[in-house]
Parts: sequence; structure tokens; C-alpha cells
Amino acid sequence: MLQTKQKALKSFYYPVMKVEALQDGPQSFKLMGQNIVLWLDDQNKPAAAIDRCCHRTSKLSKGWLREGCIVCPYHGWTFNRDGKCTWFPQSELEDPPKVYKIQGYRCEERYGYVWVALEEPVTGIPVFRYSDNPEFRKVEEFYEVIHCAALRLMENSFDVAHVNFVHKNTFGDIDNPIPPRVSITPKEWGFEANMEIPVHNKLNQKVGALNMEEERTVRKQLSEWFMPFIRQTNITYPTGLIHSIVTCATPIDDATCQLVQFVYRNDREQDVPASSIIAFDRTVVDEDMEVLETTEINVSIDLTKKLENHMLSDQPGIMMRKMLLGLLNERGELEANE
Ligand code: FES
Ligand SMILES: [Fe+2]
Repeated sequence: MLQTKQKALKSFYYPVMKVEALQDGPQSFKLMGQNIVLWLDDQNKPAAAIDRCCHRTSKLSKGWLREGCIVCPYHGWTFNRDGKCTWFPQSELEDPPKVYKIQGYRCEERYGYVWVALEEPVTGIPVFRYSDNPEFRKVEEFYEVIHCAALRLMENSFDVAHVNFVHKNTFGDIDNPIPPRVSITPKEWGFEANMEIPVHNKLNQKVGALNMEEERTVRKQLSEWFMPFIRQTNITYPTGLIHSIVTCATPIDDATCQLVQFVYRNDREQDVPASSIIAFDRTVVDEDMEVLETTEINVSIDLTKKLENHMLSDQPGIMMRKMLLGLLNERGELEANE
């Protein structure tokens, strides 16, 4: 499966950038291979449309705003958030012809980010645990381009077998490679996976992210997968600390994604500074990416083709592949899968 070739995947909301970035004027983003322009309308709400003027194809993201609408920098045609041409400066006496229109997209603000769906969404923006719980603080971690398929990153987030190898220098234990059991509960647009992961508490975690002294601990982990490329992993440590990581892999094209990651924690800045939390997760993400960026961008979701081998602990990734295949089958896109 090449991620931007699947029409069904356009029917989901993806976080594309922080809403505060739009304070600097119109911005561009590439979502699933489609160039889009983003701006703030007259209600200060984010708006999204195709980044292509219907007159001579110039990029609207190079333009400016007029009464909450986007003005094309070439000849000034102006479009509202629905894509309707509202001003046609070459002929102010007449309404712009109805054919003067561009494709507008569904666009919402949530969790401080702009979320865009290129087609009518089949489900809403995920509701993240702790997002409105005043006991929790939010730590913004990463907004960066990564070079792998989104599904590889999602699978990796639920892959209990990689921890002892990829993260052997941070919290894994290469001498104990047998992975723990994972129990999975399917949901309508994803699943929940429960697991208990033994943690070899290396020095940088003791002083950095965890604020605990024990050499070994166990973390209870409830991970939620939101189709297609979002997960929230809720980690509870024996101390009562909850470290909840939201990771989104927004497809840019088939080979790259925008990584959006933030954390909810029930401790305070004076317990563990945000900079330590980010520094630890930076190392973990870098360890993951070093491997993930070597994987193929075409992820085989049709298991009958046997293009990749699997083991017992791959169940979450297998379930992802089956649910995505089911979605594409439902939408009659089976032939485009592999
Ligand atoms: S190209 Fe946009 S108004 Fe001419
Ligand atoms: Fe990892």
C-alpha cells in the first residue's frame, strides 16, 4: 500500500500544522500529495483549500488575506473558505462567474493544531485522553518531517518486540528479548492494546524523564490506535506517573510524513522539566527513526501475498493491516492496494 494512492485515506482528519503558524499569514502544506493553502478566516478560524488558483494555476499560499478570504497574488482573484470566488477585481461591476471556484477542504482547530480532511470524513478528530483534564499539563514535543510510511511508524508504536533492540540504550533490555503479551480490543475506527512492558531504567531516564531511582520497573501501557495514522499511548508507572504520548504521522507523500507529537503528564514542571521529557523522547524517536527510515515505503497490507513474515507479537500491526485492507475493500479500492 502506498499511502497517498489510497482514496479512502483522504476521508480522515490529519493535523497539518500549529494554528499559531497562521498568524504569520497564509501557509502551504502538502497533504497526501495535494498542495493545500491554509489561512485564518474573518472569524479567526483556520481554512484550507487547494493551493492552485483556477485562473492561471499560481500558488495561493504566496498571496495575502482580504476580509478572511485568500487573495491570489497574480491577478487578485479572491476565494472564501468554501472555495467560492468572492472578488474579481478586473470587473467589479459583476459578480464573479460561478465557475470561478477552487476546492475548499474541511478544516478545524483542535489541540492547537489545524486539522484537514481532503474528502468527507468518515469519522471525527480523535478525542484524546487527558486533553481536558486540568491535572495534566501538555508538553509539545515534535513537529518534523520523517522519511518512512505512516503505517510503519504506527505499527512500531505497538511493537513490543522492537523495544529490547532498538531502545537497548534507553529503556530496552537486549538480554531479555521475549516480548510481553498484548491484548487487543477492536473499536469502530481503530483498537485498544493493553500491555505491561518491563523497563530497564537507564540513568538518563532516572534523572530525566521519570524522576525515579529504581533500576528496573514495569510500565502499564494502554495504547489506542485511531485509523489510519494516529496513536495515543498512555503509560502508567508504579509511582502513579502517567505519561501519555500522542503521535500523528500525517502523510505528505508516499515517502514522507509530518510527525506531530505531544505529551500529557500528571506531574509538574518542577517535578520534571519539559526540556528533560522532550530530550528523553527525542532520543527514543531518533532510535526508532534510524530503523524505520530503512524500511520500504510500500507496506503490504494483503497478508495472503506473504511479502513480509510475521511473528506472534506482530498482532497489533497485523490487525492494522487487516482493518486498512477492509476499509479499502469496502471502498472498492482493492486493486490499488499493493
Ligand atoms: S492566477 Fe490567480 S488570479 Fe490569475
Ligand atoms: Fe520504539
